Amino acid sequence: MDDVPVFLLRLRDEHRAFDESFRGLRDAARVAKDPVMLEALRILCEDFLTAYHQEREEKLLFPRLRGDPRLSAGGPECALHFDFYLADRPLAHAARASRSNGAAAEGPRWQGSSLEDQKANSPLCIPGEDHEAGRVLLRALRTLPAPDDPDLFERRLRLLETFGTIQRTHHRREEGCFFSVCRGILTPAAWVEIEAADRAWRPPPENPAVQAVTDALAKAGWPRFAA
Ligand SMILES: [Fe+2]
Ligand SMILES: [Fe+2]
Repeated sequence: MDDVPVFLLRLRDEHRAFDESFRGLRDAARVAKDPVMLEALRILCEDFLTAYHQEREEKLLFPRLRGDPRLSAGGPECALHFDFYLADRPLAHAARASRSNGAAAEGPRWQGSSLEDQKANSPLCIPGEDHEAGRVLLRALRTLPAPDDPDLFERRLRLLETFGTIQRTHHRREEGCFFSVCRGILTPAAWVEIEAADRAWRPPPENPAVQAVTDALAKAGWPRFAA
């Protein structure tokens, strides 16, 4: 493992910390019907995974891969993960969950480079769609009123559970395929640049839900780094 770039090891650690923290917070929300735990789960999905983890993948990795013909060659497990992707397209999955929980089922909001990837039918559309499906679910969540009754609480929790299901599959795709592709394309100099540009997670201002997230990540053994 010592030849794996530090940035990829960091992303893998974040996947694992997300998965374990997600399970803990989801179980706590489900058992206690506690709105603080539900909010903690949203913060983990939105602030930690989407705005921190995925944004770094999109800003530090995607631009260095975009347009490279070796992207289409894939890695050893890519065909398998592509089959899984086609069998249950993440945007369709997110739209189904939004509708079935009474939330507005908006489509994706492709913009900038992600719109260019769509037009070019780039292989980056696959991780891009996984990420966008998460954002669709987070927007759907905001169309529901606050969880002031058991039914709304349940619907919000189910939307977040769908977020977790899609992103767990996405993490398997990244670790089995996408990260190998990155290692095949990016040069040692590119990894040095990426490492230098990386940043630490800054949690939202302290409150009980944010504290529950930072406690869950610490309990999961996340080796948070201070860049
Ligand atoms: Fe990702
Ligand atoms: Fe990731």
